[in-house]
Formats: sequence, structure tokens, C-alpha cells
Amino acid sequence: MGQSGRTALVTGGNRGLGAAIARALSDAGHAVIVTCTPANSQSVAWVGPQDYEGGPFAVYGVDVADDQSTEALARQLHADGHHVDILVTNAGITRDASLREMDQSTWDAVLRTDLHSMFNMTRPFLEPMLERNWGRIINISSINGSKGQFGQTNYCAAKAGVHGFTKALALEVARNGITVNTVSPGYLETEMVMALREDVRKRIVQDIPVGRLGRAAEIAALVAFIAGDAAAFMTGSNVAMNGGQHMS
Ligand code: CAA
Repeated sequence: MGQSGRTALVTGGNRGLGAAIARALSDAGHAVIVTCTPANSQSVAWVGPQDYEGGPFAVYGVDVADDQSTEALARQLHADGHHVDILVTNAGITRDASLREMDQSTWDAVLRTDLHSMFNMTRPFLEPMLERNWGRIINISSINGSKGQFGQTNYCAAKAGVHGFTKALALEVARNGITVNTVSPGYLETEMVMALREDVRKRIVQDIPVGRLGRAAEIAALVAFIAGDAAAFMTGSNVAMNGGQHMS
């Protein structure tokens, strides 16, 4: 248990933005559980380097696109004596293609992982937060959920949906000490963005007024603030951090 007495769960916390968020929440004094896909959880080699100041994060496997898997995770965490006070739904994928080139399975994969996961992950963890009358739910969307992006009809639809989910749930639990917010990062120096074709990535950076990609740690610091007591009056918000790209 960290000094705050609270436990945070970060989906997709094994790499990229999720790993930075896990670190920032740990630095803020929370115990941290990270989840990754069941196949990845078998190889937890990456936990080694994270083993600093406060010990390793607990790692669990879950398929956020599958409600049976998320319910099994909630049961397992309960059996292992954990309770989740801070839920960060960060796991997500891209499968970029123009709509004319996109097949049904590509559409479904992104909607299931990036949007259906909001329902799957939140529902099993909400009741215990209501019982304790305290909770923080932070849903990671994207600048592209509001701006749109060529080649991302699936991802933009899912990420726009994330904020609709946030607002509706924020209203439902506002009187119960639980805040629900969306964080919408711009393009970051993560594997997901570095996988873009170089010419495409260069064009995107040209559209970012500060002239660079964001750092995962910059978004993570924002998430840590929202997870704390100081942010109790913030709910249903969509907080953007994108180097000014939303104005381009
Ligand atoms: N606006 C207008 N036209 C565009 C365009 C744009 N942004 N991007 C491409 N086009 C046009 C091209 O000019 C080209 O036109 P012509 O055939 O007339 O020359 C045509 O569309 C095809 O473009 P590509 O050569 O790029 O086509 P492709 O099939 O090789 O690739 C693609 C298509 C995969 C969608 C590619 O364009 C791409 O990767 N785009 C970027 C998508 C993107 O930004 N993804 C973000 C991933 S990271 C992330 O999502 C994290 C986050 O939250 C920010």
C-alpha cells in the first residue's frame, strides 16, 4: 500500500503512456496495479526497471475488449485483497486505414478495445467505489476524438465516444465522491506514434505549434493531478494537452 492509502489501476500500464501514468501515480504515493493483455502478463520482464521507490507494481492480465475477462479480473483483485480507488482506462489500439480500405474486423477491433472497454472495465469497479464514497475514473481519449484524423474513422469514433461515456457517468456518480474525467493527449513520443510512416509523422509535427511531440510524462503528471483530492471539483471534463495542435 502506498502512502496515500489508495490503489490505482492502469490498463495498458506496461508500456507507452500507461507506463508513464503508472509511474506518476506511484510517485504520488498510490499503490499501483497495471494490466496488460493476458499474453503479455506472462512475460513481466519489464517490471524489473519499474521496481523503484515503493516496490514493483502488481501486474494482471486482462482483455479489456472482453467483459468476461474484465469481470474475472475484478473477482481476482478482490480475492487478492485489492480495492481500486483510481481507475485509468488507458489501453487502446489503432488500426489506421481510410474508410474505403477498412474492413469490418478492423473497425470492430478498435471499437471493442478503445470504446467497449469503457463499459467492460468500469462496470465491475464502480460499485465498490460507490460503497466507499470516493473514486477517480480517468478515461484516456485523444485529440483525434474531437479533431478527426484522416485514416482513423474507427479510432476517432471510439475516442469521441469515450468522452460521451465520461460525461454521462460523471452525472450518475457526481453525488458519490466519484469524479469521471477524460484526458485527451495529442501526439506523443510513444511506440504508437513512432510506428507512423516518417513522412506522415513529420507532417503532423509541423502542425504542432510547440514544434515537437509530447512526452508521456507530461500527460502522466496531468493524470496524477486529476487522481488527487485537489481535483475533487473537476468532473465531466475533457482536458486537452497537445502542444496547441487543437488550434491548427
Ligand atoms: N489529409 C488529406 N489527405 C490526406 C491526408 C490528410 N491528412 N493524409 C493522406 N492523404 C491523402 C494523400 O495525399 C494521398 O492522396 P493521393 O493518392 O492523391 O496522393 C492519399 O490520401 C493516400 O495517402 P497515403 O499515401 O498516406 O495512403 P496510405 O494508404 O499509404 O496510408 C494511412 C493511409 C495509413 C491512413 C496514412 O495516411 C496514415 O498513417 N495517416 C496518419 C494517421 C494517423 O495520424 N494516425 C495516428 C496514429 S497515433 C494515434 O492515434 C495516437 C493519438 O491519439 C494521437
